Amino acid sequence: MPSKINTEVDSAAHSLHSYRMPQSDFVGSSEDSSEPTGRNRHGLVRKNIKPLRIMKFGGTSVGDASCIQKVVEIIRAASHDGNLVVVVSAMAGVTNRLIGAATQSAAGHRDAVAAIFEAGTDEHRELLARFFLDTHLQYAPERINWPRLSETDRARLAGLSVWQEAVATENVTSHTVTAAAALESDPQIRKAIELQGFEENRHARLLVALTSHYGIPITAPAAYVPRSLESDFMSAGYGECFDSFFAFGLFSLGQESGYFSSELIAIFEPVVQEEARHILFFVNWVNHRRSQLPWWQRPLFRLRCGWIILKKVMARVRTARTMSGRSGAGDENFTLTARQEIGVPITLRRLVGKCLSENDRRMAVYDPRLLRPRLVPGIARLFYRMLPARD
Ligand SMILES: [Fe+2]
Ligand SMILES: [Fe+2]
Repeated sequence: MPSKINTEVDSAAHSLHSYRMPQSDFVGSSEDSSEPTGRNRHGLVRKNIKPLRIMKFGGTSVGDASCIQKVVEIIRAASHDGNLVVVVSAMAGVTNRLIGAATQSAAGHRDAVAAIFEAGTDEHRELLARFFLDTHLQYAPERINWPRLSETDRARLAGLSVWQEAVATENVTSHTVTAAAALESDPQIRKAIELQGFEENRHARLLVALTSHYGIPITAPAAYVPRSLESDFMSAGYGECFDSFFAFGLFSLGQESGYFSSELIAIFEPVVQEEARHILFFVNWVNHRRSQLPWWQRPLFRLRCGWIILKKVMARVRTARTMSGRSGAGDENFTLTARQEIGVPITLRRLVGKCLSENDRRMAVYDPRLLRPRLVPGIARLFYRMLPARD
């Protein structure tokens, strides 16, 4: 079904015909060329006469990554017919903000200029909800055609130690996130959190579908009941910031090694990207949430965030210690233990480097005006510099 954005891109492309004009590339002689040639009024020989098209895209036509991808496809198709001049203006909403900032700046209102670009503004809140709702993917785990695996591949899959922990994590996260929607008075943000709850529940359904199809025994946990809407939501969110970061690198290494079937990799690719979306939403939500508080409550909110982050870091330090010594059964951070199970001889430095590059790649597709996760990539970058190049 054509969206508003599609329509605008199409209309931009249709309007190009009025800008079509001939263009000539002048060369000195026609004898050494098999291209169609002609002679212009100056007596110069011209070769390869192609129309020049000027294409302009702006506003909602370049409003987000999917719109920009459509623009790229239009440009690619048009490039076969002739030479192009492509003019791209600012993304949707940016021009209005720039004009607003310029007006305030000319009036000498520095604080007003800073506020226009600050997280917690109406624009940021709308962008946060719109980005999440617009990038939702439709799929149903129950309708997936699971690939046929050889007994060796099935046993390898079943032998991974992550399944029970993954099911437990998705159980806690899906119930926590769904309940947290009640925290929000803004209908669009609330809708976005409800959608994230639906997606987390879909991850749990996906794991059930996979494990039952391949005969992997798991015990279904009792439905998790959150104790505190906000604290549990933040605990789940910061937990995902760590786990998803490592999952990005592990998934890519598993894909490169060919250790897992390419069909299984293709099935899980949108799930991993969905987690990138979740942590991007979460870090922006934390800023949005803090901005809604009276100024005197904000320091306490920051302290609570810091305490939750510290607990997550300590849990992962314990996991890392266990990995270097005893069994990792029962560890909270299953992605770290999974590193040992993806069939790739890997150094910790290479894993961290892969996580960093994959994090950048996955985040790059989303609106650049949104805040990016900085804490976990920042810690990882520090470790990457400290670790020996060969270990
Ligand atoms: Fe999930
Ligand atoms: Fe998630």
